[in-house]
Amino acid sequence: MKNEIDWLPILIRCRENVKKRITPLLENERKQQLLNLGIGAGGDPIKQIDIEAEKAIVETLVGQDISFTLISEESGIREYGENSGENYVTADPIDGTTNLTRGIPFYATSIAVSKKPKLDAVHTALVADLIHDTTYTAEKRKGAYRNNQKISPSKQTTLEEAIVGIDLNTYKAREIAPQLTSLIEKTKHIRHLGANALELCYVADGKTDAFIDIRGKLRTTDTAAAFLIINEAGALITTLDGKRLNTKLHPKEKLTFIASANQKIHEKILSLIKRVEA
Ligand code: IPD
Ligand code: CA
Repeated sequence: MKNEIDWLPILIRCRENVKKRITPLLENERKQQLLNLGIGAGGDPIKQIDIEAEKAIVETLVGQDISFTLISEESGIREYGENSGENYVTADPIDGTTNLTRGIPFYATSIAVSKKPKLDAVHTALVADLIHDTTYTAEKRKGAYRNNQKISPSKQTTLEEAIVGIDLNTYKAREIAPQLTSLIEKTKHIRHLGANALELCYVADGKTDAFIDIRGKLRTTDTAAAFLIINEAGALITTLDGKRLNTKLHPKEKLTFIASANQKIHEKILSLIKRVEA
């Protein structure tokens, strides 16, 4: 029988190496905010720092002699080792690149591991806040953790007291915003911090009560790791119709979702979002 890989320490090592690799570049990256190096596989402009962070992840895995298929926001799909179909590593090397280049201290590395390129096949996940040394991890059926402390979502059920994250970062605001007006009117605090993987972990960790992204532009590379962390913490993440998400993992595959701390607040949110027939 093949030896199973103990992924969690390897993902932690990836995080350490990303941090080491990007730290000397940070000052320069802020000066060169506008310098793009082309378009990444996910469709957004790539910065030097994204490429360096991805290299740090790949080099760490190759250094451990692991065969894997990389599914990355930056370089797309790449195969490493002789049995690259045995492991899929879905990564957003830096989630929140705009925050990073503008000096806003909120960005993360997101890495998910699965045996198949499917969202619900992810078995090990890490989302690491690279500024505050806060690392969220999860393994399937073993719970979710912040720096080794087990986490759970909030018990908040009233929107009048809730903190709800909404990503409205889209040129299609005229189409998207009206769907959310009733929800916004009822909610006490609205947030968007600029790194969606980390914002999903905040729901898992009880820091916020929900996070909503119905723009149709967020990639599975940004959400794969946080998806497992949300589920393992006991929070919920569904489609607008309350259905399970089971998207394929691919740099071009996009998602819309509602993530909430508990069933009650989830149902309230779903009932307030106005759905537009496609
Ligand atoms: C971005 C962040 C941001 C969201 C964008 C994403 P990136 O990720 O998650 O919060 O509004 O749509 O693209 O590009 O920095 O990996
Ligand atoms: Ca990114």
